[in-house]
This record gives sequence, C-alpha cells and structure tokens, in this order.
Amino acid sequence: MENFQFYAPTKVLFGRNQVEQLPESLKAYGQNVLLVYGGGSIKKNGLYDKIQTLLGEDFNLFELAGVEPNPRIETVRKGVAMCREHQIDVILAVGGGSTIDCSKGIAAGTFYDGDPWDFTGDSSLVTEALPIVTILTLAATGSEMNGGSVLSDMSKNEKLSFHSPLTIPKVSILDPENTYSVPAYQTMAGSSDIFSHLIENYFSKAKGAEVQDRIAEGLMRTVMQYTPIALEEPTNYEARANLMWASSLALNGLTGRGKSGAWTCHAIEHELSAFYDITHGIGLAIVTPRWMEYVLNEETVDKFAMFAVNVMGLAVINDKYALAKAGIRELKNMFTAWGVPMTLPEVGIDEEKLSLMAQKAIEHSALSTSSYVTLTAEDVHQILTNCL
Ligand code: NZQ
Ligand code: ZN
Repeated sequence: MENFQFYAPTKVLFGRNQVEQLPESLKAYGQNVLLVYGGGSIKKNGLYDKIQTLLGEDFNLFELAGVEPNPRIETVRKGVAMCREHQIDVILAVGGGSTIDCSKGIAAGTFYDGDPWDFTGDSSLVTEALPIVTILTLAATGSEMNGGSVLSDMSKNEKLSFHSPLTIPKVSILDPENTYSVPAYQTMAGSSDIFSHLIENYFSKAKGAEVQDRIAEGLMRTVMQYTPIALEEPTNYEARANLMWASSLALNGLTGRGKSGAWTCHAIEHELSAFYDITHGIGLAIVTPRWMEYVLNEETVDKFAMFAVNVMGLAVINDKYALAKAGIRELKNMFTAWGVPMTLPEVGIDEEKLSLMAQKAIEHSALSTSSYVTLTAEDVHQILTNCL
C-alpha cells in the first residue's frame, strides 16, 4: 500500500426527509443562494417545490437551470457571472453528477480572473471556491463527496476534469427517495459508473492494498445485487439506498487512496462523450469488458482471477486464464442483463473517429505511462474496434 492522504470532509445527511435540514445547512454559509439544476427532472418529481417551500423568505434564491448531461463550460461561465452579480454566498446543486460538477466549476470560477476552462489543464489554478451544498438525485458519479469536476467544451470536442479539495461539497443530502424517478436507462448507466470507479481502483499496479480491495469487492457485489431490483422496482427504498451510498463510497477516496496510477476506461470513455455526447456510464460499460480482455496477460491474470471469484462469484478452478476470462464474460453478461447497449453502433458511434479518439485519449491522460497496463494509441484503437 502506498502512502496517501485521505480527506473526505463532506457532511452526509442520509435518508428520508433529510432535506428538512437544508435551511440550517445553507444558513451556515449565508443568505444568497444560487440554486443550480438540470433539465427539469426536479420540477417533475416535486423536489423543486419542496426546496422553494423550505427556503421560503429566509434566503435570496437565484436560479441557474438547464445544466446539460456532460455539463458545458458555457453554463459554468454563465453561473460565474451570476455569482459575481448577485454576490452569492453558497451554491445549492440539486441533481446528478453533471449539476454538481458544473457547480464546482462555478464555485471555483467565481474567484478566478481567467476562464474556468483553464482549471482542466491545471487544477492548481483553483485557489478559492464558494461553498457547495448538494442534494443528490442520481446514484452514479460520487461527485457528491469528492472534489472532481468533469466539464465539456463541445466546440473543441474536449471533455476534461479538474480536482481540488476546495470544491468538495460541504454538505450532501442523500435521500434515496429522490432517485425513485430516475429512468431505467440512467439507473443502469449510474450503476455501471459506480462499478467502473471500483474496477478502475481495483486494477492497479500497487500491491498489498487489501483493505481497499475488500471494500471495493463488497461495494461491487452490492451494486450487482441491487441494480436489477432498482430496475424492476424503481421505488424500492433498500435498493435505491444501497446504490446511493455505494456511489458515494466508490469515489470518495476510500477504495482508491494508496493505489496510484491512471484510470484507463474513464480516459477512453471521456473521448466517446466528447465526440458523441453519449451517457458516461453506458460508454464505460461498453469499453470495460473489451479493455479487460485486451490487457489480460501473464502479469494481470491473477488479479482477474481474483475478480472472477471475489466479485463475479465464480468457483475456483485450476486454469486461471479460463477463470479470468469467465469473470470478464460474466461482467459483460451482467451489463447485458441490466439492459445496457453493449456495442458502440448501438449508441451511434461507428469506426470513423475511433483512431482520432484513441489518439486524444492518450494525449489527455497518463494511459501511456501509468495505467494498470500501459497502452499506446494503437492499443486504444484496437480496444475501441473490439467494441464495434
Ligand atoms: O437534467 P435533469 O432533468 O435533472 O435530468 C437528468 C439527466 O437527464 C436525469 N436525472 C437525474 N436525476 C434524476 C433524473 N431524472 C429523473 N429523476 C431524477 N431523480 O439523468 C440524466 C443524467 O444526469 P447526469 O447528472 O448527467 O448524470 P450522472 O450523475 O451520471 O453524471 C454524469 C456526469 O458526471 C461525470 C460524467 O463524465 C458526466 O459528465 N463524472 C463525474 C465524476 C466526478 N465528479 O467525480 C466522476 C465520474 O467518473 C464522471 O466522469
Ligand atoms: Zn465515472
């Protein structure tokens, strides 16, 4: 296990009716609140009205609506202008990862003289940020409990991230009932994303991080157990609660600290989203099993065999390659059973830009130097070709 710093300061208010603590949570930071939300799901499921009632006359509420899935830098710029104009004290992000990530860009951008897109090239440019309170409505990214923000500039086909301890939400309200209205497609995409965060951390060159790996296995098994239930019965509290808490724990540092190294499937998927605006979790589910098949070799086989047994629940057999391959097959079957489209053409991607996206994945990441198995642009191109 490598040296690490673990810092997860978000106050989590988990469970039914926790939204009642919203006024108190905001009051600690001030009266001028920027409410940030997406395309309107919070108006349909009643959460918007509940927030208005709770905040009543006590706060000056300003609104930035319409944050896009794969949030755009233009929306961040709009939010920065609003924060400056209205002297916002605290940002209230209500939604999924996109809304929370956009809010992080706004929170930091408010104190930065240049363009907030600069953060994606150099996170150290974030030197101050407005406090962020979130109400999570989709179990997926873990953004509710980390300092990461993934932003898109579609004019350049770029989807890039920044990370800062200053943009970790101060408070996150996690009421599983707020995810009852998440449609099946987003539910399976969210679960695929949680699963992928755990896989990216699990397959690392660092040795001896048993605590992290056993926690990751438990979380993966939890996601496997509850996703089909949430899909079948969207208002099953236990299923939604377990997926929600798994989302936060999968990417708050718990399973990744002490295990350095670049993530692979995320670097590749971010190019798919940058060029084709696809749903993040779906892209990950398509890429992950093909990446696993590609990097299975003498050095990685033991870990893949461990994954097959400890996560996918297969019985131990002598032929570790056969076991490893069966584990990967099971993972693909799991995504298929959830209903995830498992090829690129099914999400509107053909071979035309695969080579360009492969090159960009290498340029925008440390895939060629510090991933679990280092890859060249040709390798990434082959992995993507295997997704057709
Ligand atoms: O916009 P609204 O109308 O709210 O609808 C959203 C959106 O269409 C809908 N939705 C969310 N909650 C709902 C709901 N619909 C009905 N009922 C609800 N309760 O779901 C759609 C997708 O929302 P989005 O926020 O885009 O999804 P997600 O949470 O999966 O976030 C994806 C973004 O986060 C980034 C991804 O790359 C992508 O841009 N990531 C952020 C990370 C981080 N900050 O740590 C890490 C991840 O790996 C990821 O890269
Ligand atoms: Zn992700």
